[in-house]
Amino acid sequence: MKYHLPEARVIGQQLTGQGIYLLNILAPEIADLAQPGQFVNIRSTRQLDPLLRRPLSICGVDRNEGLIRLWYQVVGKGTQLMCELLPGETLDMIGPLGRGFKADLTGKKAGLIGGGMGIAPLLFLGGELAKSNSVMAFFGGRNIEQLPKQGFMPKIPCQFATEDGTAGYKGLVTDLFAKWLEQESPDMLYACGPKGMLVQVVRLARQYGIPLQVSLEAVMACGVGACLGCTCAKSSKDEEGWLKACQDGPVFWEQEVDL
Ligand SMILES: Cc1cc2nc3c(=O)[nH]c(=O)nc-3n(C[C@H](O)[C@H](O)[C@H](O)COP(=O)(O)OP(=O)(O)OC[C@H]3O[C@@H](n4cnc5c(N)ncnc54)[C@H](O)[C@@H]3O)c2cc1C
Ligand code: FES
Repeated sequence: MKYHLPEARVIGQQLTGQGIYLLNILAPEIADLAQPGQFVNIRSTRQLDPLLRRPLSICGVDRNEGLIRLWYQVVGKGTQLMCELLPGETLDMIGPLGRGFKADLTGKKAGLIGGGMGIAPLLFLGGELAKSNSVMAFFGGRNIEQLPKQGFMPKIPCQFATEDGTAGYKGLVTDLFAKWLEQESPDMLYACGPKGMLVQVVRLARQYGIPLQVSLEAVMACGVGACLGCTCAKSSKDEEGWLKACQDGPVFWEQEVDL
């Protein structure tokens, strides 16, 4: 079930790092249904250009207040228009979309690894998993500006890495993750981030034989399975064919897709 909200109201937004914003939107229908890993397709209603909505992960919900939270980086026209929105202004939004993470674990140990804005869906996931599991998160970015801040971080143990050393470990988040896997035996791994990071995480998951779910940030247009703009190749081990990242994903078992 998904909703089209043509005039979802902005409750507020704040800058959390250079060019990175946390946006709260009143959308009780979507907040009620949303699962970690799902996304909304969204555009500012200020003007018609750009016409296409942009996909953004749901990074948190407040079901009592009917709010959804998005954490996004300004990279082009759509996100630039979005960051200028003031409380009371509106967004055209469809959601919740896509297949989220399988998170029906209890009493298990889960490892989360996110790079760049790929951290966004893992914030929602980490909070949900932590209700009944032990969770360790690894979040990396180019610098401290790209990392999530207290206030919208779930209360989970977390290790940070930055490429320039402005916060946490200086280097790649996959280095931290690999060291952790040498010591620990998690039951499930979850990842979202740049392709290079995902390739390393898949290699580690296979090395240790741990199931891994990956969320792919494919370029999308319609977001609802109609345009074929987001197809990705099925894993060569399975039958040949294509998957729609917006409908079959964005979350896949690592063995389902060819990165
Ligand atoms: C399922 C999904 C969830 C996402 N969640 C988030 C999120 O939580 N936070 C966030 O900041 N971003 C997220 N993204 C990426 C986000 O959708 C794009 O950054 C956004 O669409 C850019 O729109 P724009 O109009 O500002 O830029 P455009 O003018 O459309 O593009 C500007 C630049 O960004 C690149 N770009 C556009 N779309 C993507 C994409 N999907 N992946 C990588 N590069 C892209 C373009 O190639 C171009 O170089 C997500 C993408 C997907 C598919
Ligand atoms: S974005 Fe149109 S089919 Fe996936």
